[in-house]
Amino acid sequence: MHPGRAIEIVSANCDVDVNADVPVLAPDLLDERMKAADALICLLDDTMSEAVMSEHPRLKMIANVAVGYDNVDVEAATRCGILVTNTPGVLDETTADLAFGLILACARRIAEGDWFVRAGRWTGWTPQLMLGADVYGKTLGIVGMGRIGRAVARRAHGFGMKVLYTTRSQPANKIQDDLPDCQWAILDELLSASDYISLHCPLTKETYHLIGERELSLVKPGSILVNTARGAILDQSALVKALESGRLRGAGLDVFEDEPHVPEPLLTLRNVVLTPHVGSASIETRSAMAELAAQGVDSAFSGKLPTNAVNSNVWERFLNRLND
Ligand code: GLV
Repeated sequence: MHPGRAIEIVSANCDVDVNADVPVLAPDLLDERMKAADALICLLDDTMSEAVMSEHPRLKMIANVAVGYDNVDVEAATRCGILVTNTPGVLDETTADLAFGLILACARRIAEGDWFVRAGRWTGWTPQLMLGADVYGKTLGIVGMGRIGRAVARRAHGFGMKVLYTTRSQPANKIQDDLPDCQWAILDELLSASDYISLHCPLTKETYHLIGERELSLVKPGSILVNTARGAILDQSALVKALESGRLRGAGLDVFEDEPHVPEPLLTLRNVVLTPHVGSASIETRSAMAELAAQGVDSAFSGKLPTNAVNSNVWERFLNRLND
């Protein structure tokens, strides 16, 4: 995580204990360091379960430096009077860039071409060498049309693509005023009509394995699937089968169900492009995320509800705990 001005921001009104030694603290070390903390600024692979929260009765706030907060048990936090924030908005364009990069990399076999050249296998130009698929003019299905999905749609329009999208519920009109040139579809329709499918929904109980064997049996033969959201939205075993059978032409994966573990077949399949959960990994965006998390802590402990609170219903309790 690139902290930008985050440490300076929280240091203005708080004593700060920064883990600068290793990228991510093991749970027991984190547990030890959290004992004295009123607030915790944590990362997406820090699991904040009810057990962790109840072991730290002093804890009043968890600022998760990620837009997704499936690592935090928000219901338990609310029960414990702990305010939770995330970092929405600041990473949309950067994550959309990576999603689009994976679409292009899979379609035009960029990673495979790189490997081919480095391995010394390129012996000369031939008309059939590394033929891929066009992106321009094709149909992109966006599963989850939140801020990041919309940023991907803007890029797709630049490529002359038709955009289909799903949302949690059906909008009043299939084409919403704020989403020109995008058409809402139910998931099954989107899967069967799209040449490219990009996942952008949060991981929740409802979206766990949202794309499984049945859904992959519906995709247009030869389509490409990209996941920059959360690994567990996609059933990885079903994905491997769809790639091996050729039903899917390829997949671009930035996220995995049990990170950093990547299933062996995905490591060997040539039609898969893998990146290590770097959707928001630009210096500018990681700084903005860290600063947004820090501003949230500064704001909450100054008595002002942060705009990025995910359980603002806990605010009165939080204030009472602050003043106790
Ligand atoms: C990254 O995966 C995030 O949720 O911000």
